[in-house]
Amino acid sequence: MGIPELEIYSMIGAEGFARLVAAFYRQVPQDDLLGPIYPAFDLPGAEQRLRDFLIGRFGGPQTYIEQRGHPRLRARHSPFPINQTIRDRWMRLMDNALGEASLPSKAEEVLRKFFNEMSTFMINQSEARIS
Ligand code: HEM
Repeated sequence: MGIPELEIYSMIGAEGFARLVAAFYRQVPQDDLLGPIYPAFDLPGAEQRLRDFLIGRFGGPQTYIEQRGHPRLRARHSPFPINQTIRDRWMRLMDNALGEASLPSKAEEVLRKFFNEMSTFMINQSEARIS
């Protein structure tokens, strides 16, 4: 049994999530697959949305829901073509970010499992539809 998800915020704080998400978004602009999906957007805003979402999801203040409403993450990702390859790249960047953020290993373990599952859940295209 790992530690409960809702205890992650008290372990790593807003600062831990900020470090993790900054390390993720730092890689996005130069990534050949993810870069083109994100640049039309305001990256600092995207960074803030992911950070606030994670903070609320793992036991911290509910700022994300107050500002954005129910996350509905699959629906919110429907404009972006996400196949297995894109999902795997997203996960690789998040793995890099988890390595860089050097969080307590128990927290890192819970977060990695969550990202693995959520990124798979976000797939909305079969490989064949994207050339
Ligand atoms: C699987 C590959 C994924 C891709 C290609 C992807 C791509 C994107 C893009 C392009 C945006 C819009 C940026 C913005 O303006 O906020 C976005 C937003 C967001 N993503 Fe992802 N994402 C992926 C997976 C995930 C996962 C696994 C999570 C959660 C753990 C997540 C959480 C979010 C959140 C919270 C937002 C902001 C939604 C909003 O309030 O509008 N994404 N994503």
